[in-house]
Amino acid sequence: MHTLTLLISTLGLTAAIPTSSFSSRQAAAAASVDRYAGPGCSGTVCNKAGSGDLHEGCNVISDACTTSLHLNYANTGCQVAIWTDAACSNVYFYANVTSYECYQLGPPIQSISVTC
Ligand SMILES: *[C@@H]1O[C@H](CO)[C@@H](O)[C@H](O)[C@H]1NC(C)=O
Repeated sequence: MHTLTLLISTLGLTAAIPTSSFSSRQAAAAASVDRYAGPGCSGTVCNKAGSGDLHEGCNVISDACTTSLHLNYANTGCQVAIWTDAACSNVYFYANVTSYECYQLGPPIQSISVTC
């Protein structure tokens, strides 16, 4: 009887361990942009991870919404920049995103960096 109780407790504990790495990433949003598949900020809209949230560091873009974008917000002191490679490499800098107006993109962008 005691052995059975112990087994049930152990299983309960295992199931209760949360996926903490996911929730801590969610909490770290520092900026947000809306990206669009069409020109002039029209057509299909995509946001990073479905939430529009960009985290500090390099955010890789892997969907098709790379034709135009605009800034939603950036935390005070955070700089948002867009890049034409997937690693925010210095030589692939495209533009600083500093205004809330629509940015029409030439080459597709593949990453967005947030530096705070
Ligand atoms: C983009 O922002 C960085 C950091 O503020 C600055 O050093 C760089 O000159 C800016 N580039 C352009 C093209 O505005």
